[in-house]
Amino acid sequence: MKQDMIVILDLGSTENTVLARAIRALGVYSEIYPHDITAKELAALPNVKGIVINGGPNHIVDGVRIDVWPEIYEMGIPVMAAAHELAKCERQIAAWPESEEACKEALRPFVFDVCKAEANWNMKNFVADQVELVRQQVGDKKVLLALSGGVDSSVVAALLVKAIGKQLTCVHVNHGLMRKGESESVVNVFRNQLDANLVYVDAVERFLGKLEGVADPEQKRKIIGAEFIRVFEEEARKLDGIDFLAQGTIYPDIVESGTKTAKTVKSHHNVGGLPEDLDFQLVEPLRQLFKDEVRACGVELGLPYEMVYRQPFPGPGLGVRCLGAITRERLEAVRESDAILREEFAKAGLDKKVWQYFTIVPDFKSVGVKDNARSFEYPVILRAVNTIDAMTASIEEVPWPILQTITKRILSEVKNVNRVCYDLSPKPCATIEWE
Ligand code: XMP
Repeated sequence: MKQDMIVILDLGSTENTVLARAIRALGVYSEIYPHDITAKELAALPNVKGIVINGGPNHIVDGVRIDVWPEIYEMGIPVMAAAHELAKCERQIAAWPESEEACKEALRPFVFDVCKAEANWNMKNFVADQVELVRQQVGDKKVLLALSGGVDSSVVAALLVKAIGKQLTCVHVNHGLMRKGESESVVNVFRNQLDANLVYVDAVERFLGKLEGVADPEQKRKIIGAEFIRVFEEEARKLDGIDFLAQGTIYPDIVESGTKTAKTVKSHHNVGGLPEDLDFQLVEPLRQLFKDEVRACGVELGLPYEMVYRQPFPGPGLGVRCLGAITRERLEAVRESDAILREEFAKAGLDKKVWQYFTIVPDFKSVGVKDNARSFEYPVILRAVNTIDAMTASIEEVPWPILQTITKRILSEVKNVNRVCYDLSPKPCATIEWE
């Protein structure tokens, strides 16, 4: 391993990720472990230069004070803790500050002067370490990956191609609900540019067939999820001798479910219910990265900017933006109008400013006039929102001339549409998606 590490021991605080990010911001790698890790387990971790104990008020559980194993203080590794933790440590602080920036400054002397850690956490070293670790884990066996084209699965794919080349098989399922050009870009980048083993599954007819006449949003989501697993499973069974399943699990997925439960993540949970008899071991090379680090890793691996910095896109894709029972003509109207919106946002630089932006086509028509004749066609609704955590969202004030350009283009270029509206609703009361 090329990187020094500061370990954070979790005594039940929710602020651990702030500390981990602060240490990584100092250029030193950091990981969070449960408070009851043993000295032996800790000694087995590579390059541990220091330990930070973080509890806060939560370290009293049911009236009992929880603590780390006393042997941890005897390992000769410097320890830092907040004063109320009453730990026997090299450095104490009255309380951990709230902001990442303040934590960074509070930790700096400990990390560099006491622990003598080297600021060698960078993506180049991370990629080199992971390539080595994946090779050790996988040996000469084969690995399977569901490659949706989203940021996480794309970065995993690029990393594994670098580590194990053709031992990786990527399966890309086109369910017909992708944005314009998205499946083509997956094929182009991974098959043509990176020379990956890629199975492209055209399942468009199959998904649209299953969804025909289904108007209930939850039902639509369930059908898309279940069908995806069925298609992926069929492809997996066609491939011989696969031992490993790679997944784009990232740090928030693990930390949010509590570090103590991290080990219980199972393959079939994350891919949404693969049958038990598809018995894979997991390869999760991004499991220690925050989202912005995943993007930086993608850049380091040479993935295109649009792929790495793309906006969030829901699993059921355009299916939840083509409201009610999906029809091909409305689905095309969603896809084409979304492409125009994205293009104009990129031209105006809004793609780097706005968190999520897309179009919706409802399942009703309105009266209009086209070429001096009455028309009866669908509206397109534009939505552009900003948020930190997707729990609440505010509306982007898109400049009027940009909205006008988008409207003009949609009305002249998209079939079956005669009206464009802008959704002004924040979350709450509305949600970001319409279904
Ligand atoms: P809502 O509509 O609940 O969306 O305000 C919050 C964020 O989650 C995304 N979203 C989904 N993502 N599968 C996903 O992977 C889904 O079924 C799904 N539904 C909503 C949505 O795009 C927004 O970013």
